[in-house]
Amino acid sequence: MTTPILLRVDSSLASTEQASVTRALADRAVEAYLAAHPDGEVRTRDLVASPPPHFDPVAQAARRRGDTLTPAESKAAALADEYAAELRDATDLVIGMPLYNWGPPSTLKAWFDHVIASPIARHAQTMEPMIKLRSARVIVARGGAYGPETLRAGWDHATDWAEKSFTAIGVDLEVVAVEMTLAPGRAYLAEFEHVYHRDRAVAEERLAGAFAVGAA
Ligand SMILES: Cc1cc2nc3c(=O)[nH]c(=O)nc-3n(C[C@H](O)[C@H](O)[C@H](O)COP(=O)(O)O)c2cc1C
Repeated sequence: MTTPILLRVDSSLASTEQASVTRALADRAVEAYLAAHPDGEVRTRDLVASPPPHFDPVAQAARRRGDTLTPAESKAAALADEYAAELRDATDLVIGMPLYNWGPPSTLKAWFDHVIASPIARHAQTMEPMIKLRSARVIVARGGAYGPETLRAGWDHATDWAEKSFTAIGVDLEVVAVEMTLAPGRAYLAEFEHVYHRDRAVAEERLAGAFAVGAA
């Protein structure tokens, strides 16, 4: 039996101590994982502690042509492969993704730009998705509300981006979302605080049971 590996990817600028919802919920996922898999391993890729550089397409193009890479191109290719190999080697995946200015955190986008450039994640010629995970979740935290009845309906471009883009590398993400995370402690949002508490409780419960036997 190989050791099950949970890859945890964090992208919140806040720490758990500063009340990051995605980091706190990712902690729950880790606890649930280790409870379900006492022999399991958790690997963390914190994109704020170690931000990825912006992607440079020159290295990828040189690699695709089979050119001899310059030292800088080799370094870029190695980074893409390092990120992608973490996904390849994982059994399960959990990503923490705050909504920042109606999109994903720039670190998460930059990380994905590298991942998808690696032939480990997507075949360079056929574009075949190469990553095979048992389960994959994205924990989304939104300061406001984005339901169909809200003024900002359709403005969450992060969740849609993540759900669609990750399929290109073979990853089907299950979304665990919490809205109105900015409501607690803000009097002008007090009437919406129940939404946050409701979503948070549902998310905690879903993550607690996520890795139980039979739940993947
Ligand atoms: C730079 C920045 C941009 C943000 N933009 C949005 C936004 O567009 N929509 C929204 O609902 N909340 C926005 N927020 C609030 C965050 O989504 C919210 O605080 C969320 O809980 C952050 O995730 P975390 O709790 O894991 O840190 C923004 C916060 C920051 C710091």
